[in-house]
Amino acid sequence: MEQLDWKNLPFGYIKTDYNIRCYYRNGKWGELEVSSSEYIPMHIAATALHYGQESFEGMKAFMGKDGDVRLFRWADNAKRMQASAEGIMMAEVPDELFHQAIVKAVQMNRRFVPPYGTGASLYLRPLLIGSGPQVGVKPAEEYMFMVFVTPVGPYFKEGFSPVDILVTPDYDRAAPLGTGHLKVGGNYSASMRALDMAHQKGFASALFLDAKEKKYIDEAGPANFFGIKDNTYITPKSPSILPSITNRALQDIAELLGMKVEVRQVPLEELSSFEEAGACGTAAVISPIKKIVNDITGESIVYSKDGKPGPISQKLYDKLVAIQNGDEPDPFGWVEVI
Ligand code: PLP
Ligand code: COI
Repeated sequence: MEQLDWKNLPFGYIKTDYNIRCYYRNGKWGELEVSSSEYIPMHIAATALHYGQESFEGMKAFMGKDGDVRLFRWADNAKRMQASAEGIMMAEVPDELFHQAIVKAVQMNRRFVPPYGTGASLYLRPLLIGSGPQVGVKPAEEYMFMVFVTPVGPYFKEGFSPVDILVTPDYDRAAPLGTGHLKVGGNYSASMRALDMAHQKGFASALFLDAKEKKYIDEAGPANFFGIKDNTYITPKSPSILPSITNRALQDIAELLGMKVEVRQVPLEELSSFEEAGACGTAAVISPIKKIVNDITGESIVYSKDGKPGPISQKLYDKLVAIQNGDEPDPFGWVEVI
């Protein structure tokens, strides 16, 4: 393979050697298959294509200093994909099948796991789709579960440098009783207009408010939001946000570092009282926030005057990354060497 520029990888698709596939037919899952094709044959009436019956996951594998490859909290991703499947009436992928598929996907593409110290990682994208035909709005009878991998750099090109975020009260990503808490494709198409507008105005992401009252913070595009004040890690509780595994990890790390943790509604007005703020997720890791601007009122809140991450965001980030890379012991049992 041509040498990849590991330190400057974008968050994008790079072809790797193999992907993994498994088919659900006649009420049961078949054997895992390995493919070197980037394409999948699809029925023209597959429910994934017409009615968005699909769910995906995002997780990362990290190369340690010791040359070992580590997966981070894979079982939580498996559980979340099962919740998504249950929510939109798809066949669930059992933990064991999920695990076999991701481990195989990493092992078969081991040469694409970015070396230690490059800041890059191998992104794993499990994907579950309704592959059987329906014309009426109802669940498919056949499903396809796939895993592809691709080496990635930081999601926001700034990496671990503060980014600007735009509050977009004119757009909703998900309704309170809808599918916002599930990792299903429709939520992402629903967010694209707002994200595009934010990008065009020079912001790294949109910050969505709750769709019902338009009073509380929901989440920051493809990442959860957190604020820090009075030695407390505060993150929104909302029925329409995706429960982020990174966010849960940061809550545990915050407690380990002697901080308090609050998971509760976060009113828009509270933003100005935070000492630091950030967006977190598998892809984003922690993206500290430099400035939040409200697209409607023009109100602006600055968290980082010198363009550097705040001290607590820095500590949380360092600890998370040290555990993921295997630089520090993992007191939580989050990593699995494969
Ligand atoms: N929120 C949304 C909408 C996401 O797509 C993601 C990414 O998976 C997250 C939050 C962060 O979740 P996690 O930390 O589990 O990757
Ligand atoms: C992730 O953080 O893994 C995500 O899935 C975000 C994404 C939609 C790129």
